[in-house]
Amino acid sequence: MARSNTKSSPSSSSASSSRNKPAKKKAPRARRTGVWRTAANSDRHELYELAVQEVVSECDFIDKTWRKMRGRLASTLREDFCGTAKACTEWARRRKTNHAIGVDLDESVILWGEHRHRANLPEPISSRITILQADVMTVETPAVETIVAMNFSYFIFKERATLVRYFRRVWESLADDGLFFCDAYGGSEAHSEVEEERHLDGFTYVWDQNKYNPITGDVLNHIHFRFPDGSEMKRAFTYAWRLYSLPEIQDMLREAGFASSTIYWEGTNHKSGEGNGIFRPSTRGEACAGWIAYIVAEKRARKTNRRAK
Ligand SMILES: C[S@@+](CC[C@H](N)C(=O)[O-])C[C@H]1O[C@@H](n2cnc3c(N)ncnc32)[C@H](O)[C@@H]1O
Repeated sequence: MARSNTKSSPSSSSASSSRNKPAKKKAPRARRTGVWRTAANSDRHELYELAVQEVVSECDFIDKTWRKMRGRLASTLREDFCGTAKACTEWARRRKTNHAIGVDLDESVILWGEHRHRANLPEPISSRITILQADVMTVETPAVETIVAMNFSYFIFKERATLVRYFRRVWESLADDGLFFCDAYGGSEAHSEVEEERHLDGFTYVWDQNKYNPITGDVLNHIHFRFPDGSEMKRAFTYAWRLYSLPEIQDMLREAGFASSTIYWEGTNHKSGEGNGIFRPSTRGEACAGWIAYIVAEKRARKTNRRAK
């Protein structure tokens, strides 16, 4: 995959084909609503969701992978580090048989998601979503078919032994044929202290790789939002993580008990040289400047490989 040297934002698990759009002269939202976004009138969680999350394509990917690996679709999903729990909402929405559990430590972000997403859902859908304010390390949930940990949230566990313990907790919480989905980012620019801007709908999203320590692998990343009037929401989000490599992650998943894990590498849009948003199982990546990959780990080895109709 010959990803261009213009790095895609690592703080997005979405297809990079939609990233790095050229700056627009006028913000379409402002034209639509007559209101320009500013730091004072904007909500950081709303901007985060607009800039970073792609829950529809994430759930499509989960469905596609289940069909391929298990010959059926999953019904139960747990979203670890759920934040506003947007993925839970999408999961519960897409099938009557679907149930979602979200887990996050932070009460304020849970309440924001409750107010913004779940309060507006029809009861039959909202009743299939449970949000727990809890630590993913200790939370007890009924066995689920799918657990997701997206946008690199598990990089928060900087000690290798702690991350193995988290993966083990995930393994224990899965049904026997369960699958764990997470993502990772890397590439030569992931080890640089750089800022990347993307111009979105009436605001600019800034991914600021502020610090990288090559000895420990620790990174300090910020998200800032900038606005057409020159105002800025500085450090709207901050992440102190350890930048793990794909082989390290696969080794730890194996140690935690997973029967196997597969890397899904993104294909290339040959016109732009950027990622095309299509992730396929691969054992060979490319040394591009910036990449994002999905990892799918199987609790137990697959029994079926039939395609669902
Ligand atoms: C990067 S955000 C992820 C939001 C969302 N899942 C996404 O894909 O964009 C990380 C979230 O993890 C939560 N968090 C951090 N440590 C946690 C832990 N030990 N248990 C549960 N949630 C945790 C934070 O409160 C924050 O909402």
